Amino acid sequence: MAKTLIRARLLTFLAEPLAFDDHASYRYEEDGAVLVEGGVISACGDYTAIAPAAADADVIDHRPHLLLPGFIDAHAHFPQMQVIASYGAELLDWLNTYTFPTESEFGDAGHAARIARFFLDEMVRHGTTTAAIYCTVHPQSADAFFAEAQRRGMCMIAGKVMMDRNAPAALTDTPQSSYDDTNALIAKWHGTGRLHYAITPRFAITSSPEQMEMVQALVADHPDLHLQTHLSENHAEIALACEFYPQAKDYTGIYEHYGLLGPKSLFGHCIHLSDREADALSESGSVAVFCPTSNLFLGSGLFDYFRYRRREKPLRIAAATDTGGGTSYSMLRTMDEGYKVVAFHGEKLNPLASFWQITRGNAEALSLGHRIGTLEPGTDADLVVLDARATPAMRLRMERAETLAEELFVLQTLGDDRAVVETYVAGRAAKGQI
Ligand code: GUN
Ligand code: ZN
Repeated sequence: MAKTLIRARLLTFLAEPLAFDDHASYRYEEDGAVLVEGGVISACGDYTAIAPAAADADVIDHRPHLLLPGFIDAHAHFPQMQVIASYGAELLDWLNTYTFPTESEFGDAGHAARIARFFLDEMVRHGTTTAAIYCTVHPQSADAFFAEAQRRGMCMIAGKVMMDRNAPAALTDTPQSSYDDTNALIAKWHGTGRLHYAITPRFAITSSPEQMEMVQALVADHPDLHLQTHLSENHAEIALACEFYPQAKDYTGIYEHYGLLGPKSLFGHCIHLSDREADALSESGSVAVFCPTSNLFLGSGLFDYFRYRRREKPLRIAAATDTGGGTSYSMLRTMDEGYKVVAFHGEKLNPLASFWQITRGNAEALSLGHRIGTLEPGTDADLVVLDARATPAMRLRMERAETLAEELFVLQTLGDDRAVVETYVAGRAAKGQI
């Protein structure tokens, strides 16, 4: 089997870093190497220790750049590439004015395929190798996305959005059709290559109680699948959701009633949760997905990362772009904005924790830590190579950076796609193929 040896400075996380100087939380190799065989990491460590096993390997030398596990985006909408930068609206107006009309075009399979190509190109350009994706209501949008991800050998989670009310006719299904289409897509795509299906009710406002019962049935039939939806993003949204489900205790209680909380459940935003709601998410092992650029752009609110992490019943948290409510495809830009949101609460998210979050942290939040998110032998060789001196301003700033944590903070604060030297998908350099 062909072997590839990739030389670089290596960084991989062992645990969540608790401070700027938490050196036990990561492994760093100044002169490191990753050996890849059949798309999988077969060895990782100091170059001189790995080299004997790599005598017959093709060698790619990225020194002095920094190699990490590929970035993971826990929530994004691929059909919203042409929604990004839509002016002047908060969530519900933004959905009705910009997002729903744009998503209505994805009944056209050719259009969906074109945007899926553009989207995955952007993921690769920004160093993201796995994402949890919302398609549109149209099954052909999910077909297009999965087909393109499969062609590239990427590990992707995605699902057809289920929505049967409060949206234009071109964008609604019915409880039965959403159930049937979701089942057919699961049979077709889940477990194909590196693809995972996520049951995807858009949110309580666009799903009738009858559709929620169908979601419940799908989850019961496929308990190992992810479920993704939106929760507690904006005050008007919360009020409307609770109006549509008056018997629920609160917004989280709607999803709870239909049995949708659990360790594979990803709840986008979770900004305004009460303690009861946070307890319910924590006790069920559900994941709250922090989408800072989106939350700032739509004026939705300030996610309180440490309130959720440090409470008696902590929440599992993932981080995400939420494109097109979010304004960047980059997980570096996302964590830069995340740092600022956390700062509003008088806290600091240290750069080691940021890079843990977008690699191992997100992999674990997506229950994929056994396959991605680290450089551990036996896991998939999805990698990103970063250059903290990619621009003149970054180069100048790096003259004064002395530690690894400082370098990471420069990458996060000033970096974007220009800092991504290469992205490897299952061991193959993918940027050149765009
Ligand atoms: N809530 C329901 N749908 C959406 C969406 O597409 N984007 C965001 N940010 N929130 C939502
Ligand atoms: Zn979203």
